[in-house]
Amino acid sequence: MAVIVVVGTQWGDEGKGKIVDYYAYFSDVVIRYCGGPNAGHTIVSDKGKFKLHHIPSGILYPKKINIIGNGAVINPKILLEEIEQLKRSSVSVENLKISKKAHLILPYHLVIDEAEEKRKGKLAAGTTKRGIGPCYSDKVFRIGIRAGDLLDREVLKEKLSLIHFLKVQEIEKIYGLKFEKTQEEIFNELLSYAKELSRFICDTEDLIEQKIKAKKHVLLEGAQATMLDIDHGLYPFGTSSNTTAGGACAGSGIGPTNITEVIGVVKCYTSRVGEGPLPTEIFDQIGEEIRKKGNEYGTTTGRPRRIGWLDLCTLRYSKIINGLTGLAFTHLDTLSGFEKIKVCLYYEIEGKKTTLPPSSFAELKKAVPVYKEFEGWKEFDGKLAAKKGFNFLPKQAKEYLKFISKEIQVPIYAIGVGAERNSLIVLKSFKKK
Ligand code: IMP
Repeated sequence: MAVIVVVGTQWGDEGKGKIVDYYAYFSDVVIRYCGGPNAGHTIVSDKGKFKLHHIPSGILYPKKINIIGNGAVINPKILLEEIEQLKRSSVSVENLKISKKAHLILPYHLVIDEAEEKRKGKLAAGTTKRGIGPCYSDKVFRIGIRAGDLLDREVLKEKLSLIHFLKVQEIEKIYGLKFEKTQEEIFNELLSYAKELSRFICDTEDLIEQKIKAKKHVLLEGAQATMLDIDHGLYPFGTSSNTTAGGACAGSGIGPTNITEVIGVVKCYTSRVGEGPLPTEIFDQIGEEIRKKGNEYGTTTGRPRRIGWLDLCTLRYSKIINGLTGLAFTHLDTLSGFEKIKVCLYYEIEGKKTTLPPSSFAELKKAVPVYKEFEGWKEFDGKLAAKKGFNFLPKQAKEYLKFISKEIQVPIYAIGVGAERNSLIVLKSFKKK
């Protein structure tokens, strides 16, 4: 039995979808434990191409239980669109479960997200404008509406009246905007979602516990990444949930002693959407080439991603915060064909050697990366590499990967060598015997 957490070790968009998709195949339960429609991944399966924001990737394999955990936030409209998209392609959604405790993103949250970003000016995180922060802040302020509230009309009405008053005041008085939707309109909207979603909403903790007791494989699918975590990321430029491995327990109701593996997904370079300092950012033609080759444009917003060299300070930190047991590299193929490749070994901040990212963004802004340069490698056939294994890779690529694994002191579990689903070299599979 394995209870595996898959987390992003950098700034998001590491290609977690590909790694999760692979490990989901051997899992009985797949759980999303944080974030909401700010995340998005495209999965190409034999039934077609799917863009999923809420629903765990396990949905594309038959007979797996797919849970949207309590730590996630849900925009019911987007979730329903995803369900419809899957149904149209004859993908069964019967095994989808939504935790009663997951909070709902309401129309106010979208308006406030956008208005608050404008107000913040230089301190804006460059959010996805999906209402994520305002929804999580209502959760913590204890005025949020949860999926379970959709099952009780009276409670829903009572809670909505509390929040509606407050949010309309906020939008109109603080941001000077007009909010057109009445409480009744939102109530009716929620009732229509309740009609479609009620059959999926339930308590999920005991269900997961029973599967763990029965020695089934459980996969916890992280969204966003370590540097975007609300506590451990680069505050205030990250997201509003605990995206790291600790968040997997809190966001699913699984006790920490049940977790057996934490796989950190590492893109072979760095990418970032949104604002804030990024010490290894590449501003020249090489950055542009990597962006194009790696198709580095946001899945959710279409924004071009900022590109940088791999940063060992971030990875060392990620190992500590997540307790990584394995590394899954992605986009090795994207880095092929460059003459030289750089890796940031440490920073110098005001002349002092620093091996971990400072917690303050003002400090990080001053970081000067100190690089080690590697010989690049020629383009190689990713599909063939996936079949033949690690030794098939160009010598320089192997050196690059081994160096990182040794520096971080975490073994390599998988290496992504192409965009296709099966372009993956697997060193540790968790296949059932
Ligand atoms: P929010 O999660 O929409 O509030 O955005 C907060 C910050 O996290 C912004 O800098 C976003 O660009 C970033 N972010 C949120 N979700 C993702 C993701 O899935 N991939 C990469 N960056 C993300």
